[in-house]
Amino acid sequence: MIEYDKNAIVPPYITQYLREKTVHGDALLHEMEEYAAENSVPIVEPETARFLSVMCRAVRPKRILEVGAAIGYSAILMEKAARCEILTLECNSDMARMARDNIEKAGYTDKIKVAEADAKDYLAYLDEDEIFDMIFLDGPKAHYIYMLDECVRLLKKGGIIVTDNVLYKGMTADDGHVVRRKITIVKRLRRYVDMLMENKELETAILPLGDGVTVSVKI
Ligand SMILES: C[S@@+](CC[C@H](N)C(=O)[O-])C[C@H]1O[C@@H](n2cnc3c(N)ncnc32)[C@H](O)[C@@H]1O
Repeated sequence: MIEYDKNAIVPPYITQYLREKTVHGDALLHEMEEYAAENSVPIVEPETARFLSVMCRAVRPKRILEVGAAIGYSAILMEKAARCEILTLECNSDMARMARDNIEKAGYTDKIKVAEADAKDYLAYLDEDEIFDMIFLDGPKAHYIYMLDECVRLLKKGGIIVTDNVLYKGMTADDGHVVRRKITIVKRLRRYVDMLMENKELETAILPLGDGVTVSVKI
């Protein structure tokens, strides 16, 4: 049974259809989905998960950077599709520990590195340029505006940045949907989308998928 969110940007009947069509049979990922649902851990939505997996297979990255590991669900999912090196950043120590445990269960300890750090600081600390072919931003939404320049610096030409939750229950697109206590995040997400669209090194598509996803290619 799908839990519907009345503020979701996609009508429930479409979400239902997408989820019926994008089932998978991976036991560990199922176990992690159940854990996330029971413990309110925000992992990628099923249709966004499939999109990420398809992006990995299309881009064939050698190195992926993820901001926001949580329990390691999307990192494991991307590893299954890309079979490459993944660096995932997570500031919460309990989450980082669970991510490492799950990565070990998946048998990917030598492929996925979890760095327990604040992503903004860590990105600035990475001193090589253009070392990732794909970057997945799924961490602190209000801080993406401070991370974009570093992400572009760290991304190879032809590489992609995928950002989740950019439409944020529709609030990014329309004042009428904005919940007062979210106004700062919303303003920063709007600024982030503008920064993506105005960046001369990127071409960006905004997709009404899940909670809103942008895909930016470095040109
Ligand atoms: C939406 S969850 C990530 C879900 C994960 N990508 C998945 O789909 O399986 C966001 C995560 O970002 C982490 N986070 C928040 N702020 C952060 C920061 N400044 N640096 C690193 N991680 C951060 C949170 O602790 C949380 O676990």
